Amino acid sequence: MAKRILVAGSSNIDFLLTTPYIPAPGETLLSAGKYAFTPGGKGANAAVAAKAMGADVVFCSRVGDDAYGDRLIALFKERGIDTRYIKVDRLEQTGLAVVMLEKSGTNRIIVFSGANKKISDADVEASFSSYPDAVLTQFEIRPDAVIAAARLANDEGLPLFVDAGPADEEFPLEKLERVEIFSPNETETEILTGIRPNNLENCLRASIALCNRVDIKYVVLKLGSRGCYVYDGKYCDLVSPYEVPVVDTTAAGDVFTAALTTEYLRTGKILDAARFANAAGALAVSKLGAINSVPTEDEVRALMNA
Ligand code: RIB
Repeated sequence: MAKRILVAGSSNIDFLLTTPYIPAPGETLLSAGKYAFTPGGKGANAAVAAKAMGADVVFCSRVGDDAYGDRLIALFKERGIDTRYIKVDRLEQTGLAVVMLEKSGTNRIIVFSGANKKISDADVEASFSSYPDAVLTQFEIRPDAVIAAARLANDEGLPLFVDAGPADEEFPLEKLERVEIFSPNETETEILTGIRPNNLENCLRASIALCNRVDIKYVVLKLGSRGCYVYDGKYCDLVSPYEVPVVDTTAAGDVFTAALTTEYLRTGKILDAARFANAAGALAVSKLGAINSVPTEDEVRALMNA
């Protein structure tokens, strides 16, 4: 039977704009590409991806009482996600992310949190009545909501999965207490540890630094085109990437962590889960958009078998 994952996190509409390069201060740049308003948000991307990878997903989030909020909730329902714990906030607008996408596929994102900043520890607590098997969260909501998710997961003996995006060096990592898998990308690793994971030695140093702050079973560093680095407190492995043409890296990390979580819960094998997550992340970078780039489980397995 599919595991039920409670995802506590943000929902956004992404204003996606392609640009030849990031303009300098005072510079006006004409973009020849198109723009689009597409569904995203780190929590929403992870919720949709976990569902697409075969999990049963309950999503705890907030949207505004506006057309974007309606559009997001309709999409989550259409994807088969349990939306009972998504609140419609009458005072805040739906979160919005401005995604500037360069030709290389790399992006820069500015997030207007809107309703996401009202996701409270009480919202999170209520969502635990869905009887989840595991909890997945990110740092795009208020720290007290993340800490509540961690406390409740730990109290109930549920495995806790944390995607460290967007990283905040002030975040009190110690309060997460016990984490099954902690997964930052390169930038987030550097912000949280002061160590850039640009070679194997630094990956190990950064992983040890994280484990010194919080009880983590597996650190999985997302290294983009270098794959991912897995550390279990004793042994480490660099798991090779799948090579694909890069169109848009937006949400690849969210898809990676959701796929990692789902496959790990299914198999209990961290390296198999890391390979599966690398394939899911690779497929996500080969398409434009956040939720629009989430692959299906079949597509992931087909890439792994190719
Ligand atoms: O990780 C990608 C996501 O970050 C985007 O979908 C955007 O909404 C921001 O939250």
